[in-house]
Amino acid sequence: MRAVRHKLVVGNWKMHGSRASNADLLSALLAAQPPVTDDADVAVCVPAVYLQDVSARLRGSAIAWGAQDVSAHDQGAYTGEISAAMLAEFGCRYTIVGHSERRTQHRESDELVAQKAQAALAQGITPIVCVGESLAEREAGQTEVVVKRQLSAVIHRLAHCAAEMVVAYEPVWAIGTGRNATSEQAQGVHAVLRAQLHAATGHGATLKILYGGSVKGSNAAALFAQPDIDGGLIGGASLNAADFVAICRAAG
Ligand code: 13P
Repeated sequence: MRAVRHKLVVGNWKMHGSRASNADLLSALLAAQPPVTDDADVAVCVPAVYLQDVSARLRGSAIAWGAQDVSAHDQGAYTGEISAAMLAEFGCRYTIVGHSERRTQHRESDELVAQKAQAALAQGITPIVCVGESLAEREAGQTEVVVKRQLSAVIHRLAHCAAEMVVAYEPVWAIGTGRNATSEQAQGVHAVLRAQLHAATGHGATLKILYGGSVKGSNAAALFAQPDIDGGLIGGASLNAADFVAICRAAG
C-alpha cells in the first residue's frame, strides 16, 4: 500500500501566543523558510482569535494556516462556538478536530468529532482528525480497539468524503510529556489505522496519517522515515521557530 504521499507538518499552537509573540514567531519562520516543497507541506493551527492576523502575515507564503477546533453546527444559538463557514472566510485550509485535550476536557464524543469533521469538509476545510489512547488504555492492551473505534465514527459519518481528511495519531501519554512513542510503536499503530482506512474507503494508500506527541528536531527524522508516518502534528516545538523548522526539514 505504498504510494507517494506528501509529508505534512502542522504546528498546533494550542492556547499560546500573543499578537507580538505570534508576529515574532511567524517572521522567524518565514525568514528561515521551512522547506515547503513538492514533498512536504507546512501549516500552523492557531487560536481562532489570531486567524486574521496570521492569515494576513502568511498570505502569499507557502505556509498554510488552520484552526484548532470547529463547531459541528452551521450557525445559530451556540455561544462561544465558531462555524466552519467563519473559518473558511479567513482562508483556513485545515482545522484540528477531536484533539485529546478536547475529548477529555470538553467531553467530546466520537460522534461529535465526526460531525465536526463533516462540518469542516462541507466548507472545503481539511479536518485533521486526532485519535489516540491513554496510558491506561495502552497498558490494558486496548490501543488498537480505542483508535479504531475513534476513527470508525469519522469514517462512517464522512462516507465517501473520508478520503479528504487527514488523520493524526496522538497517544495521549506522549503529549507534552517529552515521552514520544518510539518510531516502531507509532508505525505499528499507523499501519493499523491505514489498513482500517483502506478497508473502509479504498483510499488507504493516499490518506495522510500524522504522528503527534513530543516530536522534536531530534526524533522527527526517525519518525518520518517510517512507511506509514506522513508527517507530524507538533505542539510545544511549534512555538519555537528553530525547533519547528528543524522538524519541517526532517520532513522535506
Ligand atoms: P507536544 O508536541 O507538545 O507533545 O503536543 C502534541 C500535540 O498535542 C499536538 O496536537
